[in-house]
Parts: sequence; C-alpha cells; structure tokens
Amino acid sequence: MRRNKTLKPEEDVFGQEIWACYKGEEASEIVERDDGYFDASPKGPKIYFSEYEDWHLVERKAMEFVKGRVLDIGCGAGRHSLYLQGKGFDVLGIDSSPLAIKVCKLRGLKKAKVMSIEDVSFKPNSFDTIIMMGNNFGLFGGFKKTRRLLKKFHKMTSRNGLIIASTRDTYKTDNPDHLEYHRINKEKGRMGGQLKMRIRFRKYVGRWFDYLIVSKKEMEEILKGTGWKIREFIDSEGSLYIAIIEKVA
Ligand SMILES: C[S@@+](CC[C@H](N)C(=O)[O-])C[C@H]1O[C@@H](n2cnc3c(N)ncnc32)[C@H](O)[C@@H]1O
Repeated sequence: MRRNKTLKPEEDVFGQEIWACYKGEEASEIVERDDGYFDASPKGPKIYFSEYEDWHLVERKAMEFVKGRVLDIGCGAGRHSLYLQGKGFDVLGIDSSPLAIKVCKLRGLKKAKVMSIEDVSFKPNSFDTIIMMGNNFGLFGGFKKTRRLLKKFHKMTSRNGLIIASTRDTYKTDNPDHLEYHRINKEKGRMGGQLKMRIRFRKYVGRWFDYLIVSKKEMEEILKGTGWKIREFIDSEGSLYIAIIEKVA
C-alpha cells in the first residue's frame, strides 16, 4: 500500500467504511482478490466497533497477555485500544487511515496517530506490547517485509517485549478457488497466503496491497533470526489463531 501519510479521503476506503459505521449508516465491506475472487462481509465494519463481550474468545484470551505500554498497529475504530485504555494501559493506536484515527479520537482514544506500518519509527524501548488484531499480522504483507519490520519492532520494544498478532491458517480450506490461488502464488515465488487484494466500499476502490495469511509453521519460519520466537498460539475451533510472540532470550 502507498505511504498513507498522504492518503486522501477518496483513497481511504477502510476509513470511509469506519466513518459511515460511526455515523450509524449501513456499511458492508467488499474484499477483492487479484484473481477476481470477491468476498462480501455484510457485518463488515460493525465488527471494528464491537465490545469486548462480543469479541471472539481467542481475542479476549489474547488481552490477558498485554502488559505495559501498548502499540496497536492498524487500530481501526480503536476497539482494542479503547478496551485497554479503559483498563489503565498506556496505549497508542496507529492506523494508515486518517478517518479511522479521527473516529478513534472521537470515541475517546487519548493517543491515536495516522501512521502506516511501513513508516513505524519509535525510539528504542518505547513499548512493552505490540498488538496486531483483526488479522493484522496480514499487514506485514510478505516474507521479507515481515522480517525487516520484526527487526525494527525488536528495537522499539522493552527487553521482555511481546507482539500479539492475529491471523488465519490460510491452508485450512477446501475451497478450490483458494487452493488454486495458493498454488499459483507459490509458482510465482510468493507465499501461498500472500494475497494481493483491495477493498471496495460504495463508490470507493482502494489500492492493491499485499496481505499475508500464514500457517503456524510458516510463522515460525519467518520469525527465525529476527530476535523473536513463538511463546504460544491461542487456537480457535476454525482457522483463526493468535500468536503470542516473545523475544529470544
Ligand atoms: C481489518 S481492520 C482491523 C482493525 C482493528 N485492528 C480491529 O481488529 O478492529 C485493518 C485496519 O488496518 C488498517 N491498515 C491497512 N493498511 C495499513 C498499513 N499499511 N499500516 C497501518 N494500518 C493499516 C486499516 O485502515 C484498518 O483500519
């Protein structure tokens, strides 16, 4: 995705959805993959406003691992940041979407900033926990970029820093379109679950961006040599899982 410091309202498709939902309007989300596969989620952005009680169990469990100063990457409408702020944590929510950050502030998030994951830059030891919820491990985009950013995150976090990231095991599917997509991706030298996609909402069409969905084995492989390792996985009954990632001692 393009550096989003300059994201204009008409390019800010995630933000437009979130803004519409904030205003109480009907809003659904359409995800388009570069093979032409469409996925429409009628609940769409409403989920980004959901309260703790309505979150998936794995997300609620993940919150138990949060400690200290928190960075919420791709915070959306701020549901996790606001929950944690309410529990007394010092939280900074960042998102590439100016409209999402506007909504976070209107909803009472004290520290919220427009910043894309590609531009993340903080002094050493600025955070104790980085959270990437709502499948936001995907924002890493690809193998090399994940490793580059993980090394950066290593410096930004305290000695016992944690990354809490949610994703889906892309291979837990029998959908022939997805299986074909994995196969073609691998042929191209990409990871199977390295999706090229864009978001559509009403008349807005976002830019194409890479979104990475990985199996646990792939995640372990990516982490090697970055200074991070898996502490544990929080599993759901389906493909969704959350990785608790800690520093290598
Ligand atoms: C699927 S939503 C998840 C929102 C929130 N974490 C949640 O679970 O409710 C993804 C969010 O990531 C943001 N985003 C997309 N690309 C980004 C990037 N490159 N850097 C930072 N945020 C990004 C979007 O604007 C959107 O708010």
